[in-house]
Amino acid sequence: VLLLAAENAALKGAKVGGMADVIGDLPAALEQVDIAASVLMPGYGFLASRHGAALVAEFTVPFRDGHWSMRLSILPHPKAQSARIYLIDGPSLDAAPSALYHQSSPLRPFADDADRFALFGAAAATALCNGLVPMPDVLHLHDWHLGAFALLRAFDPRYLALRDTPAVLTVHNLALQGTRPLAQESSSLAAWFPALFASLDGAQLALLADRRYGGCINPLRAAINLVDRVHLVSPHYCEEVLLPSRPEAGFIGGESLELDLARHRDRGTLVGILNGCNYDNDGAEGQSGRPTTSELVRTIKRTLIRVQAHRREVAAVDFIAAARLPELFDNEQAFVISSVGRLTAQKVQILRQRRGSGETVLEALLAQLRDWRPDARLIMLGSGDEGIGREFQAIAALQDNFLFINHYDEALSEALYLRGDLFLMPSSFEPCGISQMLAMRAGQPCLVHAVGGLVDTVSHGHNGWSFQGETPLAQGEALLARLAELLPLVGSDTWRRVAANAVASRFDWPAQARQYANKLYS
Ligand code: GLC
Repeated sequence: VLLLAAENAALKGAKVGGMADVIGDLPAALEQVDIAASVLMPGYGFLASRHGAALVAEFTVPFRDGHWSMRLSILPHPKAQSARIYLIDGPSLDAAPSALYHQSSPLRPFADDADRFALFGAAAATALCNGLVPMPDVLHLHDWHLGAFALLRAFDPRYLALRDTPAVLTVHNLALQGTRPLAQESSSLAAWFPALFASLDGAQLALLADRRYGGCINPLRAAINLVDRVHLVSPHYCEEVLLPSRPEAGFIGGESLELDLARHRDRGTLVGILNGCNYDNDGAEGQSGRPTTSELVRTIKRTLIRVQAHRREVAAVDFIAAARLPELFDNEQAFVISSVGRLTAQKVQILRQRRGSGETVLEALLAQLRDWRPDARLIMLGSGDEGIGREFQAIAALQDNFLFINHYDEALSEALYLRGDLFLMPSSFEPCGISQMLAMRAGQPCLVHAVGGLVDTVSHGHNGWSFQGETPLAQGEALLARLAELLPLVGSDTWRRVAANAVASRFDWPAQARQYANKLYS
């Protein structure tokens, strides 16, 4: 299998979101079921040198009106002996470590992101057809970034050789579709592939046109319509996406792609398989590995110092929080609600809802926590949307039981997974979600919105708790009501039983890999 993707957590600097973890873990998981899965991805100008990849070829790729010179490098896969990582580099594919995208709006990427992945798609197709990258038995595409590749494979006569190999697509998040104009602009399908665009007939255009924005190409839709099978990252999300969206309820459904997905369902080519989680250190984790409060405080301080090194203004505010740390943790017994995630509307919109009284759900939650116990804390870690970051920082500056760290950091998130008493994941929608699995693995029960993969991993009253509601505000109220029921249970046998079930929950990668073999690749 060849995994074609934009991110890969197996290489430091190549992760933005949860997709990277999946690409990072899949090769080793598939190897356990005797499938060799290599990865082909952009090198972003820094991955090859940083990870010591060997340059193996220089080649040219037809794109726009000319020929672009590209480089192919290879390195062994750090976690799977049977796998390799192929990196494609070239002009305009460059990006900064951990900031691989320049994307602003979720639906329409910045033009240069769309341009880069169109060029990457053409380069990947060229490298495969030239034999620079060995042709696999299955081409496994991920998310909208591979839409241009799917299009070239299906319709461009220069890449005919690709049609003999089946292609499958994993959708990690339907909310990101990569929409751009069909023509007119310099960043458009017509500009990227002029001859191909001129050759497309009405029926072909109908497969790739955006349903919401007239005159636009939707790369995710193109990929869905042009591959042999489509995989969504949890069984529950796989059902949700067939329903029409109800924006007033904060329910996104299939994001205008429900009919295209339903066609796959009718053919039996739509599959929902949950992402896995690694349990390599089994035994070393759970309650026994729980760091003390002072260890967590030290990790937080170290992180803040690192943050300050590259982001001065933001850090100034964080340091106010850091100064308060010892006072925040006057007590090893302090109850900690933890939350780790990308700072986007998907993850925190429910917390931002305004109640009748004018306060946000987040502020109401903090008040509820304070009334319950003066030493109870909410610690939230995440970066992403700058506006949301400022909003949360403003709240943290006024609320002494809220520590908000506007930054993502592996060591700190690991410490939080281990030290937290209750993990909060109030996502409006969640294709799969990994944080809840990592929190459970570390011994923490979760409180989650009952959507998508959260339904498949957290079962209410067994290994965690969930809430639901008809509108985003009702969801926020349901969260507060659930928390009010839960807080009195802290320390009880019920709580201990749920926490024990959480740490015993298993979403093993090899079991998921077997499903890939049977339902997706066979
Ligand atoms: C996206 C989704 C998340 C999923 C991840 C990996 O980040 O938002 O729910 O876990 O992809 O598939």
